Amino acid sequence: MSQGHTPPQSAPSVEWLPAWDAGRGIDSVMELGNTVFGAHTGAPSGVWSAPGRVNLIGEHTDYNQGLCLPIALPHRTYVALRPSTNEDIQLASRQGTQLWCTTWADLRPGNVSGWGTYAAGVAWALREAGHQVGGFDATVDSAVPLGASLSSSAALECAFAVALDSAFNLGLAETPEGRRELVAACRRAENDMAGAPTGGLDQMASMFCQAGHALALDFREGIPDAEAARLVPFDLAAAGLTILVVDSRAPHALVDGQYAERRNACQSAAESLGIASLREINPASLDATLESLTDPVQVKRVRHVVTEIQRTAEFIDVVQAGLVTNGAADQDRITHAGALMNASHDSLRDDYQVTVPQTDLAVDASRAAGAIGARMTGGGFGGATIALVRQEDVERVAATVAQEFASAGYTAPAFLESPPSGSAGRDLVVNDRAMRRVTP
Ligand code: GLA
Repeated sequence: MSQGHTPPQSAPSVEWLPAWDAGRGIDSVMELGNTVFGAHTGAPSGVWSAPGRVNLIGEHTDYNQGLCLPIALPHRTYVALRPSTNEDIQLASRQGTQLWCTTWADLRPGNVSGWGTYAAGVAWALREAGHQVGGFDATVDSAVPLGASLSSSAALECAFAVALDSAFNLGLAETPEGRRELVAACRRAENDMAGAPTGGLDQMASMFCQAGHALALDFREGIPDAEAARLVPFDLAAAGLTILVVDSRAPHALVDGQYAERRNACQSAAESLGIASLREINPASLDATLESLTDPVQVKRVRHVVTEIQRTAEFIDVVQAGLVTNGAADQDRITHAGALMNASHDSLRDDYQVTVPQTDLAVDASRAAGAIGARMTGGGFGGATIALVRQEDVERVAATVAQEFASAGYTAPAFLESPPSGSAGRDLVVNDRAMRRVTP
């Protein structure tokens, strides 16, 4: 070897985060319940779970009365729950080291903090809405990466929502109208109890997505009703495609002020334009509208929101038309979908300014390695990116992203695959005599 030659570095390993089968989630929360609450409380009434989500497109549009298009991750949060005979709430999580405890007397906004606010906050919101919910013990485990902008918070809230719903016989999860009430309770938990002013996309996805489908959401009238939440068949596998998710491991938090700052900028822009929300802007007259704004930052924020709503409408049309025509992948539509994803990311980077170097790098590396389209997903400020890739390219795209992160000296990312999956529900029924698995 000649002097000064740098030996080739071995490629970094690619870390995959697999989804769990229901049995793993059930066993984990049941065992944790035995260890933590054991003999003095008895068995839980069951196990419930709810998924995280990937938003295909339509970012920072929900709180602007716009459009979003999420799918549910196969990765879920599991909860075993048992009503207690008193007014205490005790929660244990495999992601935490200590019991999270409160009482109904103490459970109110501003008086509690920590991860339990997302869970107990749902119980509080249900009681505020007039439902009979008492004390309970619960254990939690999650396959949804935390703080990765894949809706670990909504998965936690929605798993608790369906658990409390059946353990206290509220009967809401059985109907779409009832599920909408649960979404509202989860959103209140997040907005009022946890203090994150988020917009409702994540909870709708976790409560309404179905396997093999994307969920077209229209927030024009607020939380979408039956007409404004449409399931659209989304058969990626038939088109030879998959969604590769990259958890950039750049820490992400929605309670740190940046998200609220973006939301406020949109609200102020709407006020100065004399409209109720940015949804009212006609895309055809966007340039004239932007000229009437004096604040250059508001110009960027508004341009993102209006163009993103348009891109989402186009993407929904593409998915609705189908990615397969006459038995073959429809390359024109697939290319169009990829281009819309790319434009979405660029707008979030340049105009909405919610990307970070790690998510930009993950997107650039995915595109360079052959992804058809790539973008950040979720709130941003760190978190995850997604790439639309041909199945035969998945390993190469993941390896390229891992290599680029290693070269840049960033914490190694993690990878997930996300076939469109199902909504929050029950996994295990426990009664005096038997346990019955509900999901495979
Ligand atoms: C977070 C929020 C959602 C939505 C997205 C951005 O996930 O919880 O309500 O605003 O960010 O699209």
